[in-house]
Amino acid sequence: GHVVVVYGGSSAEREVSLKSGAAVLEALKRQGVDAQGYDLRDKGLAGLEALAPSAVFIALHGRGGEDGTLQGALELLNIPYTGSGVLASALGMDKQRTKQVWQASGLPTPQSIMLDDDADWDGVVATLGLPMMVKPVHEGSTLGISIVKTREALKAAYHEAAQFDARVMAERFVVGDEYTVALLNGQVLPAIRVEVPGGFYDYEAKYISNTTQYHLPCGLSALDEAELAKLCREAFAAIGCEGWGRVDVMRDANGQFWLIEVNTVPGMTDHSLVPQAAAHAGITFDELVVQILETAGK
Ligand code: DAL
Ligand code: MG
Repeated sequence: GHVVVVYGGSSAEREVSLKSGAAVLEALKRQGVDAQGYDLRDKGLAGLEALAPSAVFIALHGRGGEDGTLQGALELLNIPYTGSGVLASALGMDKQRTKQVWQASGLPTPQSIMLDDDADWDGVVATLGLPMMVKPVHEGSTLGISIVKTREALKAAYHEAAQFDARVMAERFVVGDEYTVALLNGQVLPAIRVEVPGGFYDYEAKYISNTTQYHLPCGLSALDEAELAKLCREAFAAIGCEGWGRVDVMRDANGQFWLIEVNTVPGMTDHSLVPQAAAHAGITFDELVVQILETAGK
């Protein structure tokens, strides 16, 4: 078969996707897989179909690739693809509706309120408290996200997020530690604690800075890590995710975990988290990529 790694695209996470895609493609080739890369921005879906792929490895992040649209097109073309299906991909791209599904499933996630130009700003502050997070609903890699510390800063944060998305939400800020958990073919990989000295885990800390600390093992007791793993497995299942993905979680000072979001096509760059978690579990990058490829058509 002929595998096509689809990357690039035209989302705000294009640059991240180009890196993920290049790393995936090199790994597949090293493993002897007949594979080529394809930038979805250049020739679109028709060009992809013309390549007659036996499977598509989706390495696109953000809208127009991670969000169910490409998955739906590939379903119609009868081409197997890696990772989650249409519904889970679309839900996972929507941070607010992801939270609604988790809440309905009895899973813990911080309270949120949708914002618009006429929002009751004082009411939002009264309900969520300060600091709070303001986020574009359909964005990745922390683009457009702010931590709002004062009532005055809230409106500016809203306008910043609104540059990325027509839908913006405010979310209660969980003071505590940040964890991320990768799932691969039904297996929960070791949790990573992410620490950004003096800052938060934004785009800069994710892809540019070298001061971000990745704690692996994460430092939780075996009991707590098992609780976290179970929670993430339930969170993944509630959204209907398949194959592989990553769940981001906060843990407050009382030891309570709070689900933040799920990523159905997590980053695969050399700074990225899933490859680190896999390595800690004894899975090399090349093995990881092959295992993800095997999720296609399942
Ligand atoms: N959205 C980025 C790529 C991630 O979740 O890793
Ligand atoms: Mg994300």
